[in-house]
Amino acid sequence: MSILKIARMGDPALSCRSELVADPTSSEIRRLLFDMHETMVDADGTGLAAPQVHDPRRVMLFMAERGESEIAAQSSEFAPLTALINPTWQSLSDDTELGWEGCLSVPGLTGAVPRHTHIQYQGFTPDGELIKREATGFHARVFQHEYDHLDGILYPQRMTDLSLLVFTEEVRRHGLPLLGSECRVGAIED
Ligand code: NI
Repeated sequence: MSILKIARMGDPALSCRSELVADPTSSEIRRLLFDMHETMVDADGTGLAAPQVHDPRRVMLFMAERGESEIAAQSSEFAPLTALINPTWQSLSDDTELGWEGCLSVPGLTGAVPRHTHIQYQGFTPDGELIKREATGFHARVFQHEYDHLDGILYPQRMTDLSLLVFTEEVRRHGLPLLGSECRVGAIED
């Protein structure tokens, strides 16, 4: 296994539409997923898509684990570590919501991105099993983020308000901007 180099915004590897995998159960795909997992853990990420490691195939890895594992097992808001090959998805509602995202390919920044709140997705595991799940909340968000990488889309391209694209270092000092507020600076007195 090895830690792979992560492409950053501006690298053409991130802006191409990835190709379908002919055999999801091939040893080559299994090796890629092992390396992607090692790379994701090393970089402290919650998801990774193959184009981020310069591989133009429709392969992604993510987890949506927050809070207690007993709750996690039962809710569509959560998912264990999941590897998907040739995934597809549909929205189950027209509702979207803004939420904060970061990306290993866009280091140092975080942005508020509108995403569908309730989706269904499917895709193959490296064992050849077809996974079909409903996802809501953070789980739906992380899936849509990783899926976008397969179509060459980075989260800033999905943003509708670029004033909500900020440095994480500033977030540590000032907190996250309030969604929907026009001016977040204190009143100027003179
Ligand atoms: Ni990303």
